[in-house]
Amino acid sequence: MSDDRLIVALDVPNIVMGLDLADRLGEAVSFYKIGLGMLTGGGLALANELKQERGKRVFLDMKLFDIGATVEAAVKGLAQYDLDFLTVHGDPQVVRAAAEGRKGSATKILAVTVLTSLDRADLDANLIVPGDIHEITLERAARALDAGADGVIASPQEAAMIRALPQAAGKLIVTPGVRPAGSALGDQKRVATPYQAITDGADHVVVGRPIWKAENPAQAAQAVISEFPAR
Ligand code: C5P
Repeated sequence: MSDDRLIVALDVPNIVMGLDLADRLGEAVSFYKIGLGMLTGGGLALANELKQERGKRVFLDMKLFDIGATVEAAVKGLAQYDLDFLTVHGDPQVVRAAAEGRKGSATKILAVTVLTSLDRADLDANLIVPGDIHEITLERAARALDAGADGVIASPQEAAMIRALPQAAGKLIVTPGVRPAGSALGDQKRVATPYQAITDGADHVVVGRPIWKAENPAQAAQAVISEFPAR
């Protein structure tokens, strides 16, 4: 049985491979993430096919960042695809523009706080204020939620901290970097199990390689779902 707390990242290069994977996953998965890597490979057509023809939920991970008018226009255009989730960077002016652009649609805007690939040295290189990276992440989450984001993307290590923010009441927390017990980490460094991520306050977890690289992806998806706490 599927469980929409699991979002499978379709990190394959094109729509043909994406649909093939979705076929193999079948009823086991009801929610998919399409990212920038698929943009030139038919990502929007795939989003449309999954949503309109197959009744799946779709998360388009575009991590938009630009001047307000451009973000608003981009979100307005993308919202026509009837997306469930769309990501933008968590800078308040970007989030405000995105919230304006999605008006009248059901698309939820999720804000990226601090990319989990960045460490303090990267923040220094980017001229981001001094301080602990977790504190900065937390503050960015609070500001993005204040600016009108429907939720945030967070590492599982930060889920509990963000869930405790007053601003996070009723908002979504979506965590990548989730690994079922005993699976390979890939390049993810700060991981948690599906059980831990949901228990710490995540509404959805995003899992990619442990599912789409598996010999039997549907079975791998079921294994993740079986690790979730009871609803
Ligand atoms: O294969 P894996 O499970 O590591 O894939 C995780 C997905 O979540 C990928 O699509 C990756 O780009 C995305 N992601 C992430 N960490 C973030 C934001 C997004 O791993 N901080």
